[in-house]
Amino acid sequence: MSSPIEEIKKRVDIVDLIGSYIRLSKAGANFKAVCPFHNEKTPSFYVSPAREIWHCFGCNAGGDVFRFVMTIEGIEFPEALDMLAQRAGVVLKREDPRISGERKRLLNLVEDATKYFSSELLENSEANKYLYSRGLKEETIKDFRLGFAADGWENLLKHLSQKGYKPEEAAKAGLAILSSNPDARTKFYDRFRSRIMFPIADTSGRVVGFSGRIFNKETNEGKYINTPNTVLYDKSKILYLWDRAKNDARKENSCIVVEGQMDALMSHQAGITNTVATSGTALGSSHLFLIKRLASKLLLAFDNDEAGETASKRAYELALDSGFEVHVINVPEGKDPAETLALDPVLWTGAIKNAKPVIAFFLDNLGKKFGGDLHKIRTEARTAVLPYIARFSSEIEKAHWIQETSKVLQLKEEPLWEEIKKISVLGRGGNSFTKEVKFVDVDPKTRRHLVEERILGMLKWKAGLPFGVGENLKNLFSKENSLMLESVLAGNSDFETELSKLSLEAELLYGDADNMEEEVKSLVSELEREVVRAKLESLSEEIRKTEAAGEGEKLAQYLKDFQDESRKLNYLWQEAKLKK
Ligand code: UTP
Ligand code: MN
Repeated sequence: MSSPIEEIKKRVDIVDLIGSYIRLSKAGANFKAVCPFHNEKTPSFYVSPAREIWHCFGCNAGGDVFRFVMTIEGIEFPEALDMLAQRAGVVLKREDPRISGERKRLLNLVEDATKYFSSELLENSEANKYLYSRGLKEETIKDFRLGFAADGWENLLKHLSQKGYKPEEAAKAGLAILSSNPDARTKFYDRFRSRIMFPIADTSGRVVGFSGRIFNKETNEGKYINTPNTVLYDKSKILYLWDRAKNDARKENSCIVVEGQMDALMSHQAGITNTVATSGTALGSSHLFLIKRLASKLLLAFDNDEAGETASKRAYELALDSGFEVHVINVPEGKDPAETLALDPVLWTGAIKNAKPVIAFFLDNLGKKFGGDLHKIRTEARTAVLPYIARFSSEIEKAHWIQETSKVLQLKEEPLWEEIKKISVLGRGGNSFTKEVKFVDVDPKTRRHLVEERILGMLKWKAGLPFGVGENLKNLFSKENSLMLESVLAGNSDFETELSKLSLEAELLYGDADNMEEEVKSLVSELEREVVRAKLESLSEEIRKTEAAGEGEKLAQYLKDFQDESRKLNYLWQEAKLKK
């Protein structure tokens, strides 16, 4: 009987799993991607299905499916085990006691609350009628698990208490509030009262919070209120419906961002399933980082109001800084996409098709705003268009949009370039990702160690090839790597993790070499030279010391050794050259 971990590894396809988080492209027998864990432009992140590992040669992060889920979700092993077990349909017999930690308990609590709210919605025909009147269908309401929090101070708290949860836990999950009134009848009360509830899930679809829209009641709180930041819910990193949108976003390489829950739901209902919304916060760089892993085109749709306009400016800047191809969807009818969609979904799909690159959108706006007043258009362009063009990192993009702008302004390109340069010098905050991404330090390795690792990788990858270098190698290898060498030569599974990585690296480096045996031999001869070089180095250190100490006899011996080793190195060089 295999362990649950082995069973899960067998059932979870590493390419499918990682591919559900980031865009993978095929590279021979492997897959590669831009690394989601550090900031880079050219891919150095690889997935090897045969070895069931992933590795980034840029930041040195790597491991198996568990390590991937832990790193990308920011969770500990027990929770990753739990998640992957579910995905693989593996039942964990005895729950690891560490999993029944706080997060796990709160996740269950929120799930219970979701079930409770959705059963409450079934009881409330008026709330349903309202949702229908907004254009939502019964299936959509069910499918997206909408719910209702009835009016009252402790409906949910009572229900949760029956389920065995303490009010403190409900408060930790953001569902209850500690009363500030010492005379209050109860210490805690329900946060969401008389509200239509929209459950908000994390990347993997587990509900972690809610947005609640007031229904049939006056309130001095917001029209919508949201779960505050909790152990489970961080509004800067959560996008409404991202769990359902991410696959299509990846397939289409594009993601649509709207402002509200209703906009996102209606868009999904109309079959535009790569739509997400922020929840109770502006679109920030962490949201964008999440999307950027899967899609490079971003379509933004903001409400047709003042607030929409200010929110959108910052979002355009951030999106451009994050390197997205930014497009703008012009909401054609109604105040927001939800209204457009309620009128006619075709209006929305049409608007998506007509989405314009952000700069083209700005240029259009200038024309709409100032008609034929060229002077006004030119003045406005300086602040409303050029600063955005300056944000493109691609010079080609810049050149393209300068050209387009010069046509609209009926000006030569030179003055526009001058303006752009001024803006660039004033400086933008740099790429918004770099600030939040921590680079993992990579050990500077000596050449000798690198060569040894290459050899180990080759031997592991081409196990069984009669390289005939075994015994000789044992004498050459450094102490640090000698145990790994023995393991490879013996063909056992010690150091599996490290050796798999090295073998993947070897495959990537030598995958299309004609003669593997030659490659290995030339590495071994390089190692021989490195060994001699290392000896020379330590000898010259000794020579310096003995010279200083005036130990003549010792010195003579060292000098002779040094000469011998130098000759050897010379000889090895000649030999290497002859072979080539
Ligand atoms: P809107 O103010 O545009 O909501 O807020 P809306 O489209 O008019 O709402 P409906 O259509 O009447 O239901 C858009 C989003 O902003 C957040 C919510 O996430 C909402 O979906 N919001 C809005 C809040 O967080 N708090 C508020 O008080 C209002
Ligand atoms: Mn709206």
